[in-house]
Amino acid sequence: MPETRVPRRRRFLVCEPRHFAVQYAINPWMQPDIRVDVDLAQEQWQALIRAYRSHGHAVDTLEPVAGLPDMVFAANSAVVVGGRVFGSLFHAPERRPESTHYDTWFKTAGFDVYRPESVCEGEGDLVWTGRYVLAGTGFRTTREAHREVQEFFGHPVVSLTLVDPYFYHLDTALFVLDDDNIAYYPEAFSPGSREVLSRLYPDAVLATRDDAAAFGLNSVSDGRHVFIAPQAEALAAGLDARGYVPVPVDLSEFRKAGGGIKCCTQEIRS
Ligand code: ARG
Repeated sequence: MPETRVPRRRRFLVCEPRHFAVQYAINPWMQPDIRVDVDLAQEQWQALIRAYRSHGHAVDTLEPVAGLPDMVFAANSAVVVGGRVFGSLFHAPERRPESTHYDTWFKTAGFDVYRPESVCEGEGDLVWTGRYVLAGTGFRTTREAHREVQEFFGHPVVSLTLVDPYFYHLDTALFVLDDDNIAYYPEAFSPGSREVLSRLYPDAVLATRDDAAAFGLNSVSDGRHVFIAPQAEALAAGLDARGYVPVPVDLSEFRKAGGGIKCCTQEIRS
């Protein structure tokens, strides 16, 4: 019998995809000027918010801004641990203006925001495990930023190198299941980083390239429920066998921009 998993209530920050579009290409999933069905995107996104709320999670929203088509990807705006907000400095000039709006939201909500000096893209690459930060580099967030993150939070930061451009953010290749375990796609990482992950998490749930390409690793877990792309079937079955409860939420329209469930979700940890 698999273990009974206990959920923990979360607080999420999200941004409605009212102005969602693909207007530039900054990752291999994006084809500039591909048509995006904004109504479908809105429906899919609303279903995600309903799924969070119906599982007892608190959801805060921030107003989207016209001309910032990737602003829906709230995860990239910051990483928040213990009520401390480490803001973002986007790699792509097109996304840099998003930071002002997110910073304003955090300040209005009563948080101070640290402005980093080096390129870093929030929870896209900086993943809090409950004990330390797993930090991706290779495509976006820099190693200098990893040092800044460690200095700011005073928590250990474990640098991991991403090697596959389709999995350009750490949160496309790995997610945290609970305080003790993670799921990831090993081939997205350099050999040394793979070894680090297997030492830290000998019992991790390993995903295939198909699971990863379906954005199955761009999932959100509350410790029991895993909000996951329905196309990541093998991974969902693997999670189920370990006692987690997959909650399928289809964000297929966001794949055109290289995003999924986690990308749309910023966790606020007080
Ligand atoms: N188009 C966005 C970008 O390339 C997608 C961001 C996805 N976010 C994430 N947390 N992986 O920046």
